[in-house]
This record gives sequence, structure tokens and C-alpha cells, in this order.
Amino acid sequence: FGLTAIVPAAGIGSRMGADCPKQYLQLAELTILEHTLARLLSYPAIERVIVALAPHDPWFESLPVAADPRVIRVEGGAERAFSVLNALQVADSEWVLVHDAARPCLTHGDLDALIATAMNCGGAILGSRVRDTMKRSDAAGNIIATVEREQLWHALTPQMFPTRTLKRALEEGLMLGATITDEASAMERAGFPVRMVEGRADNIKVTRPEDLSLAGLFLSQQA
Ligand code: C5P
Repeated sequence: FGLTAIVPAAGIGSRMGADCPKQYLQLAELTILEHTLARLLSYPAIERVIVALAPHDPWFESLPVAADPRVIRVEGGAERAFSVLNALQVADSEWVLVHDAARPCLTHGDLDALIATAMNCGGAILGSRVRDTMKRSDAAGNIIATVEREQLWHALTPQMFPTRTLKRALEEGLMLGATITDEASAMERAGFPVRMVEGRADNIKVTRPEDLSLAGLFLSQQA
């Protein structure tokens, strides 16, 4: 069976404060996006990777991976969910995996676990358990409550769902104006079960400048 991976890479990464979007920052000898794509393209069950790029993205075409026939580009949208939806229009496999461009440290072991559980449960995402004590505050930062952390997770990617179901759930959620920051939230809204798969803690999203050196360290440890 062949899987399609979707990589939303149309964000501008403003929290990074760099000259180019964070997925194009250099990490060792490759850009973050190249590391991410390499992890997906080297996984045997993944046959195609659809990358959603910002309109007139001037960076992607100069990367060697752009010439890989398994890599397909689509134009991204104003929000992540629109970028994923555009990619879903051209996905023709039964199942898709959606993975952030800015998570270059994904391992094949985590992919194995995610794929097995998703196919068994109808949909699944990688996550990591919350370790710190969690607080809810008001807008000024005054603590309102300590939140029970036992069943709290960080939602990571990839997130894996049946292609047609995810497309319908995203369309419906966007039409109703729901806040959709990951694919699972659209599936949850639509009433589908989604299982958490405990993944590795080094599958970080490069968001702030200090994450870049951390990702570099994780990549060198995995090598
Ligand atoms: O901004 P954040 O880190 O949450 O973005 C997660 C992923 O979604 C990134 O890979 C980013 O490039 C992508 N994205 C997108 N289209 C947007 C906004 C974000 O593809 N409009």
C-alpha cells in the first residue's frame, strides 16, 4: 500500500525573526525543510510527498529535492488548514500523513508506531505527555487554576487519517469558522475518534531561534 505525506510549508515563521521562513533556515548542511522531506521520502511506505508552498515562494525550486519525481507542489493558503486542504485536493491514496515542515527530527520508528495505530483506530497523531505542572491564567497572567496534567498531551505531527474523511472534516470546520490548528482538531469536531501515539520528545517544531541549535543537536545524536 502506498501512503501520501502532506507537508504544509507555506508559513512565514514570524516568531523566528529570520530573513526567510524558518523551514528554509540552514541546519548542518541542509535546510530544515530538506531534512524533513528526507525523513519522509526515505520511509518505504511513503510514495508521494505533497508540499504546500507560499505563492511565489522563491526558495523551494533551488533545492535538489525539488527535482525528485515523488515531490509534488501545491500553493498554500492563508492558514495552515487551507494549505493542507489544497494538498488534499491532489492526494489520491487512501491514507495521508500530515507533517509540519518545521519538524526535521522525525524518526522512522515514530512513523512505524503512528501508522500501525492509525490504521487500527481510524486515525492517530503523535504526541508527547505534558511533564510540567500546567496552569490556566487570565489575560493578565494571574493563575486561575492548576490543570490536571495526567491526561494532557502536546500534539505533534505527523497526524494520519483516511484522506477523504480528513478532507471533508477540514472543509466542514473551515466553513463553520472553527479554529483549526491541527488536523486532529477538525476530525474531533466532526466526531471521529483520534488516538494519541506517544512519540519521541526530540520531534520538536523549530519555532524560536534557540530551537534551531536544539534540533541540530538531536539530528547529530540520531545520526
Ligand atoms: O506556524 P506554525 O509553526 O504553527 O506552522 C506549522 C506548519 O504549517 C509550518 O510547517 C508552516 O509552514 C505551515 N503553514 C502553512 N500555511 C500557512 C501557515 C503555516 O503551510 N498559512
